[in-house]
Amino acid sequence: MILPRPVSFAGGGGEVGFDGAVHVSRVGGPAEGYRLSITRDGVRIRASDDAGEFYARQTLRQLSGPAAFRAVPPDRVVLPVCEVEDHPRFGWRGVMLDVARHFLPKPDLLRYVDLLAAHKLNVLHLHLTDDQGWRFESLRFPRLHEVGGWRADSRFGDRRSGGMAGRPHGGYYTQDDLREVVAYAARRHIAVVPEIDVPGHSQAAVAAYPHLGAHGGGVWTDWGVNPNVLRPDESTVDFYRQVFDEVLDVFPGEVIGLGGDEAEGGAAEGGDGWFVRRIAQHLHQRGRRPFGWDEVLDAGPLPTRTVIASWRGEDPGLTASERGHDVVMCPEEHLYLDYRQSDDPREPVPVGTVTTLEDVYRYEPPDWVLGAQANVWTEHLDSPRRLDYAAFPRLSAFAEVVWSPAGRDVAEFRTRLAEHHLPRLDALGVEYRPLDGPRPWQELPGVPGFPR
Ligand code: ACM
Repeated sequence: MILPRPVSFAGGGGEVGFDGAVHVSRVGGPAEGYRLSITRDGVRIRASDDAGEFYARQTLRQLSGPAAFRAVPPDRVVLPVCEVEDHPRFGWRGVMLDVARHFLPKPDLLRYVDLLAAHKLNVLHLHLTDDQGWRFESLRFPRLHEVGGWRADSRFGDRRSGGMAGRPHGGYYTQDDLREVVAYAARRHIAVVPEIDVPGHSQAAVAAYPHLGAHGGGVWTDWGVNPNVLRPDESTVDFYRQVFDEVLDVFPGEVIGLGGDEAEGGAAEGGDGWFVRRIAQHLHQRGRRPFGWDEVLDAGPLPTRTVIASWRGEDPGLTASERGHDVVMCPEEHLYLDYRQSDDPREPVPVGTVTTLEDVYRYEPPDWVLGAQANVWTEHLDSPRRLDYAAFPRLSAFAEVVWSPAGRDVAEFRTRLAEHHLPRLDALGVEYRPLDGPRPWQELPGVPGFPR
């Protein structure tokens, strides 16, 4: 009934009333681990650390029934007498939210932090910049968010449709907003990893400061890979060093994303790798760990502490590991949650390959990685409701992949999900995709996709 499934659960039979009183102590044990004892004498948490206690409380909330997930939970609940022993399999249990293609307003972002915490996920990777929008307030270069923070129009559905939505889109987070998100996440044992994507996916920055790019142009209104990458010269490196310094000031965490994906088209010869290397060195000199998409492996030698996100399958992750890098797996065939959830023609804006709940659940990261993350790209997710539909319940399956010991029983998971976990998501107001397909108002007939 617990999700993600704990290392062990032993039911003692019977139930006890619970009014919120918990006896908490610290004991040695695996990082983020805990032992939860529910007996006739009361509820006891023995945790390895603060995170372990936090996760024990998440488990306790799950055992308290779906109403415990409402904004006003019941004062008194009935708990099963049981003993739970638990700790995570991986230290990086992440989700990437693309807040660049479609801006996610701050209250909705904070809600996602809560949803991650309820699933014992601990990394929120924010993709803050892309061709279609710049979402980070820059005090040194304010045109980045003032000009780069909005676009005049967007492609209607898949880019091959040729149609346009016919309205502007925009938004950005102030530095204070982001400090608030970081602090809110920290209380929930979630590290926020910001990403400023260079040297590709940078058209919004070029629109703000045309000297940064080889060609001019406005904030991009199309989807896809834009060939207008950053101009690989010293002045551009210097500009971005200053931007990253502002980012470091807002995000105290060790890991800082520099993107590095899909920059090959139209690049000056040899230029891309040079740019990525320079920014990675800068982050390293500032005491942080650079974090890049697996294309950065082509950039030449990077600081060994650079973390690689392996998205084009697992092979780049293997190469990265051979070179001494830590790896976060996010292979697109399993963990791209913008991809369509079934081949049902009713799926809204069906793009990518079919990536079912079971496809996500069956993904088994190798033991030697730092962890894994699910990536939620938002070209076709223009609202929190659309995000909920794409993310859930696949993200619930992912949470179990990165937390629970290997060895999965899909049928058992589906039963536990349907009987115990979907009612929790209902209580939270998550507009997930029902197991048998979209509700009528979740379909988007007439918005063109491009199924692969
Ligand atoms: C990516 O999907 N471009 C990382």
